[in-house]
Amino acid sequence: MGNILEIKNLKHHFADGTPGIDGINMTVREGEFVLIAGQNGSGKTTLLRHLNGLLVPTVGSVTLAGISVSENPARARQMVGMVFQDADSQIVGETVRDDVAFGPENLCLDRAEIQKRVSEALEAVRLTEFADQSPHLLSGGQKRRLAIAGILAMKSEVLVFDEPFSNLDYPGVRQILRQILSLHQAGHTILLTTHDLEKVFAHADRLIIMKDGKIARDGSPNEVVRDAEMFGVRQPCASRPGIEIGSWLN
Ligand SMILES: Nc1ncnc2c1ncn2[C@@H]1O[C@H](COP(=O)(O)OP(=O)(O)O)[C@@H](O)[C@H]1O
Ligand SMILES: [Mg+2]
Repeated sequence: MGNILEIKNLKHHFADGTPGIDGINMTVREGEFVLIAGQNGSGKTTLLRHLNGLLVPTVGSVTLAGISVSENPARARQMVGMVFQDADSQIVGETVRDDVAFGPENLCLDRAEIQKRVSEALEAVRLTEFADQSPHLLSGGQKRRLAIAGILAMKSEVLVFDEPFSNLDYPGVRQILRQILSLHQAGHTILLTTHDLEKVFAHADRLIIMKDGKIARDGSPNEVVRDAEMFGVRQPCASRPGIEIGSWLN
């Protein structure tokens, strides 16, 4: 399969001069499941915000299936669905149903198509029963599933999850993990950041470790994980020699 994402020499300097990321080169294949780890401040979120044009490169380029994000940010916003750590900040609708409809409405689809997409997305994340409720009344895990429904309704090919397990209890983590894995199985390309590899390590195709705005390691999870602690990322206990890494779903 072809490359869906190409990032070349990407640098981002914030207005106050802080270098958020500093020369990122990476290519992601269609359908790949890429984990991005790194300690706080290593540049993970800054990198992700370039994928759909929320941030504009200071230097370098981001290309999605051959077309530059800065050339066509509207296309990038449709192609790349983002689920951010702070689910509350992503809520835009008065009801759960309206919230999911917000994205497709901006695509100027007809009413019937929007309704179909919204129902399917709510069904997929098992929030149908809450459709007429205010999103603010949902639990943390449900809010994150709501954000996932929003990107499903957009039919985004690339799905980006920024710390999707933070602040969730064990059942919440398992539910989100199951959702992400089934999206991967359905053919979506997945990028997921975490500073806690344990929960998702067993399922990824590739592991990237970031440090100081740069890619420090990029390769197969089993190889790269050995160096995790050098970069301030806790190694999953089970990845220590002689123990096979299990899944949180077992
Ligand atoms: N809006 C901003 N203004 C200035 N500096 C920022 C801003 N957002 C992030 N940074 C800085 O950029 C670096 C990378 O941050 P971030 O991408 O959030 O890292 P991570 O997601 O890996 O924790 C950090 O030094 C952070 O303080
Ligand atoms: Mg972050």
